[in-house]
Amino acid sequence: MINSKNTFIVTTSILCLSMAILSEGQANPFLLQLDRWEMLLPSIGISAMHMQLLHNGMVVMFDRTDFGTSNVSLPGGICRYDPTDTAVKFDCSAHSVLYDVVSNTYRPLNVQTDTWCSSGAVLPNGTLVQTGGYNDGERAARMFTPCGYSETCDWIEFPQYLSQRRWYATNQIIPDGRIIVVGGRRQFNYELFPRHDSRSRSSRFEFLRETSDGSNENNLYPFLHLLPDGNLFVFANTRSIVFDYKKNRIVKEFPEIPGGDPRNYPSSGSSILFPLDETNNTDIEVEIMVCGGSPKGGFSHGFTRATSTCGRLKLSDQNPIWEMESMPLPRVMGDMLLLPTGDVIIVNGAGAGTAGWEKARDPVIQPVIYQPFDHLFSVMSTPSRPRMYHSSAVLLPDGRVLVGGSNPHVYYNFTNVEYPTDLSLEAYSPPYLSFTSDPIRPKILLTNDKVLSYKRLFNVDFSIAQFLTVDLLSVRIVAPSFTTHSFAMNQRMVILKLLSVTRDQLTNSYRISALGPSTAEIAPPGYYMMFLVHAGIPSSAAWVQIE
Ligand SMILES: *[C@@H]1O[C@H](CO)[C@@H](O)[C@H](O)[C@H]1NC(C)=O
Ligand SMILES: *[C@@H]1O[C@H](CO)[C@@H](O)[C@H](O)[C@H]1NC(C)=O
Ligand SMILES: *[C@@H]1O[C@H](CO)[C@@H](O)[C@H](O)[C@H]1NC(C)=O
Ligand SMILES: *[C@@H]1O[C@H](CO)[C@@H](O)[C@H](O)[C@H]1NC(C)=O
Repeated sequence: MINSKNTFIVTTSILCLSMAILSEGQANPFLLQLDRWEMLLPSIGISAMHMQLLHNGMVVMFDRTDFGTSNVSLPGGICRYDPTDTAVKFDCSAHSVLYDVVSNTYRPLNVQTDTWCSSGAVLPNGTLVQTGGYNDGERAARMFTPCGYSETCDWIEFPQYLSQRRWYATNQIIPDGRIIVVGGRRQFNYELFPRHDSRSRSSRFEFLRETSDGSNENNLYPFLHLLPDGNLFVFANTRSIVFDYKKNRIVKEFPEIPGGDPRNYPSSGSSILFPLDETNNTDIEVEIMVCGGSPKGGFSHGFTRATSTCGRLKLSDQNPIWEMESMPLPRVMGDMLLLPTGDVIIVNGAGAGTAGWEKARDPVIQPVIYQPFDHLFSVMSTPSRPRMYHSSAVLLPDGRVLVGGSNPHVYYNFTNVEYPTDLSLEAYSPPYLSFTSDPIRPKILLTNDKVLSYKRLFNVDFSIAQFLTVDLLSVRIVAPSFTTHSFAMNQRMVILKLLSVTRDQLTNSYRISALGPSTAEIAPPGYYMMFLVHAGIPSSAAWVQIE
C-alpha cells in the first residue's frame, strides 16, 4: 500500500501588506517579498562543486584540478605540473578556495592532486577530511584544519592514503569519531579513516555491486545516514538497507522505492534524514525522505523529464512502507537541506536530463520548501540563477542557504554554451529571515564553541522582544554538511530535550536548561550549529562542540 498525500502551495513567500511607509512618508499598498536571493560574489574564481562549512564560519570549496585553468591563481606563485592531466599539464590556477561568510571574501587554497567527484567529513576536532577524487587524487586523503582568515592554513595531502580508488564515494562520521568511506566507481567495498595501519584493507559490500545498473550505475554517491542504533542506512539506486558496518552484515532490507526510478548518480535525486527529536522520552522516530532524480533509462534517452516523486520511509516502524508524495516541480540534481525549523529546502538542479557533462536542461530556479509534519510543499517565488551539474548548497549559521557552482562542461566555458560555468556565490534567505519576524526571533547570548556532553545538563541564555510561550520554543543542533553532487553528507539535526526556561528580570533575558544529546549514535562527536527556534522563527546559530 502506498499512501499519497500531495499538497502544494504556490508562492507563499509573498505577503500582501496594504500599508507601508514609502520615502515620501505616505502609505501605499505594495508587495513585500519575504524571501530573497542575494548575489554574494560574482566570482570566487572556481566553481563550487564541493562545499563544507567549518566551525570558524568559513567554507572550504573546491572543484577539480584537471579541467583547465580557473579564474584564480594559486597562492605564492605555486604551479602544478601533472603529465596525466588532459586539459593543461602546467596549471598555475587554484582549484580550491576558502570563503569567509562574515567578511564575504575568499582566498585561494593549494590542492595539488585531483579532487574531482570526491567526498568528505569533518573529524570531531573540526579538521575537514576529504577523500578520493580522480587520477592522481583517487587514493588521496586530504586534511584541512581551520585557522583564522588572515593565517595561511592550507590543505595537507596524503596521495596514497586510501586502500582503494574513491571516485563518487560517500562519507559519514561514525559514533567513535572515525569516518566511513563507502563505495566509489566500481568499488563494491568500504573503508575507515583513520586507517588501522598502512596495510589496512577495505571490506566488501556486495550490495553496491547488486544495485549497479551496468554502465549507467545509478548507485554512485550512495545516500548514507547514521541511525540512532549505530547502524547505517544505505540507499542505492532503488534499494535500501540497514547495514551493520562493524560486522559487515545487512540487518534489514526495506521494500524497493515504488516506481522503479533510480535515485543515485547519475540519476541524481537526493535524500534527507528528518530531525531526530529527543523532546519526549519515547523511542526516537527515524524517518528519511528521498526526492527526485531522473527516471529509469533517463541517462541514455536525451533530456527525459525529471522525476517528481519523493518517498518517505519511517525506518523506526515495525514494517516500514514507502509513503509517496509529489513535488510541485520535477527535479534532478536538487540539493535537499534541513533548515533550522526542521523544514526541508530543495534548491538547484534541472527539470530534464541527468547528471553528467551537457546532460541536463530546464534549470529549476525556484526553491521549494517542504514541511514534513503537514506533508506540504511550497514553491518559493524568488528565482535563482541556473545551478546545473556540479552546483552545491549548504546551510549557514545565520539561517541563509549558501549556493554556488554549476559547471556542466569539461572546461571552464563561459561562452558558447547553454549553461555557462558559474563561478558566483549566492545566498538564499528563506521567509523566516524576514525582518517582519524579528520581534519573535530569539538571539542566543553565548560565545561560540561551548562544550556539550552527552545527557548532561547545559544552559543557554537568549534575549527576545516578544516571548510567546515555552511550548513554541526548541533547541536544535545541526551538523554542517559536506555537500556535493546533490547530497549533503553528514547532515543531521537533533532536537534536544528542553527542561526549563526562566526569566532574568534584571537583564530581561531568558535562560534555557536543556540536555545534551543522549548518545554518540544520535549525535556523533564534533562541532554543531545550535539554533533556538521560537514559533517557527530561528535564531542565528552558536557553534557548540559535542564530546
Ligand atoms: C574568467 O577569466 C576570463 C579570462 O580572464 C574572463 O574572460 C572571464 O570573464 C572570467 N569569468 C568570470 C566568470 O569571472
Ligand atoms: C584533528 O585530528 C587530526 C588527526 O589526528 C589531526 O591531524 C589534526 O591536526 C587535528 N586537528 C586539530 C584542530 O587539532
Ligand atoms: C511530546 O509529548 C507531548 C505530551 O505527550 C505531546 O503533546 C507532543 O506532541 C510530543 N511531541 C513530540 C514531538 O512527539
Ligand atoms: C569549452 O572550452 C574549451 C577550452 O577553451 C574548448 O576546447 C571547448 O570546445 C569548449 N566547449 C564548448 C562546448 O564550447
